Parts: sequence; structure tokens; C-alpha cells
Amino acid sequence: MRPSGRVQGHLASIAAVALALSGACAIVAGEPARDALVAYGKRLASECTSCHRSVGAGNGIPPITGMPEQTFTAAMGAYRHGQRHNPVMASVAQSLDEHQTSALAAYFATLPRPPRAPGPAASQTGGETGPGEAAGRR
Ligand code: HEC
Repeated sequence: MRPSGRVQGHLASIAAVALALSGACAIVAGEPARDALVAYGKRLASECTSCHRSVGAGNGIPPITGMPEQTFTAAMGAYRHGQRHNPVMASVAQSLDEHQTSALAAYFATLPRPPRAPGPAASQTGGETGPGEAAGRR
């Protein structure tokens, strides 16, 4: 049927590579500031995911994927300023500057929420962040 099928296939794979390469650039080019922020957050997140796996409930470590950005940033601020007491998270929060915190917030917000509602940790914020987390409960 297609005498030049082999050549076309070859061209197609070259095209696929070219697409893949330009795709990688598009991640940066798409919506520059936002995408770069999320990409930066993704890089920083390797520090967090040793504890916060995608489903971390059950071992005392709440899942942080799919957290609304504001809730996330507020929680980090609460650890940093001693309103929430957890030695590990306090030092984690203190080691991050504002840009890094918002990058992480942006990245984790892009991930799907864990299938089950998080454990009791979610209800420990002093009401500062409003009903966001409560909405997740049933
Ligand atoms: C050594 C383990 C560990 C590491 C590393 C760690 N965390 Fe945590 N994180 C915890 C624990 C434990 C809690 C629950 C603390 C509490 O009860 O308040 C927590 C809570 C949180 C919360 C609040 C979640 C909620 O439901 O309110 C956020 C947000 C968070 N961590 C973000 C991060 C980010 C971002 C990083 C990486 C920069 C990180 N954590 C690294 C152990 C860790």
C-alpha cells in the first residue's frame, strides 16, 4: 500500500523527537511565570516527598498533594512563626524563603488530592484559613 512507509516511519520518529524537544521548551514558554514556579516547586518537592508521599495519612504525616495554595502557604507560615508546633516542619518552613514556599504551594496544588480524607492534622489550624479543609470531610 505505502511504498515509502519505512521512510515515513523514520521521518515520523525524527518528528517525534523534535516534538518532544520542543515540548520540553513549551513547558517554559507556555505561561512563563506560572509554569516556571510550578517547575521550581517540583524540584524543591524532593525534599518533602521522603515524608509526604502522595498518600501519607496513617503514619502521622498528612498528605499535602492537592492542598489549596492558600491553605498550604498559611500552614507553612504557621510553622515558621511558631503558631503550629512541629519541630521538623518548623525547621523545614524556616529554611524556605517566600518564593520557594509559593513555588511548593503551586506545585502541590497541581497534584491530585489523595482519595481519602486526611487525618486529624488537617483540623489543627487555628481557624485562620477558613472552612477550606472542612469541606473535604464527609
Ligand atoms: C521529616 C519529615 C517531613 C519532611 C521532610 C517534611 N514534612 Fe511537612 N509535615 C511533616 C509532619 C509530621 C507534619 C504534620 C505536623 C503537624 O502535626 O502539624 C507535616 C505537615 C506539613 C504541612 C501541613 C499539612 C496540613 O494538613 O496541615 C505542610 C503544608 C507541609 N508539611 C509541607 C511540607 C513541605 C513543603 C516540605 C518540603 C519542603 C515538607 N513538608 C517536608 C513531616 C515532614
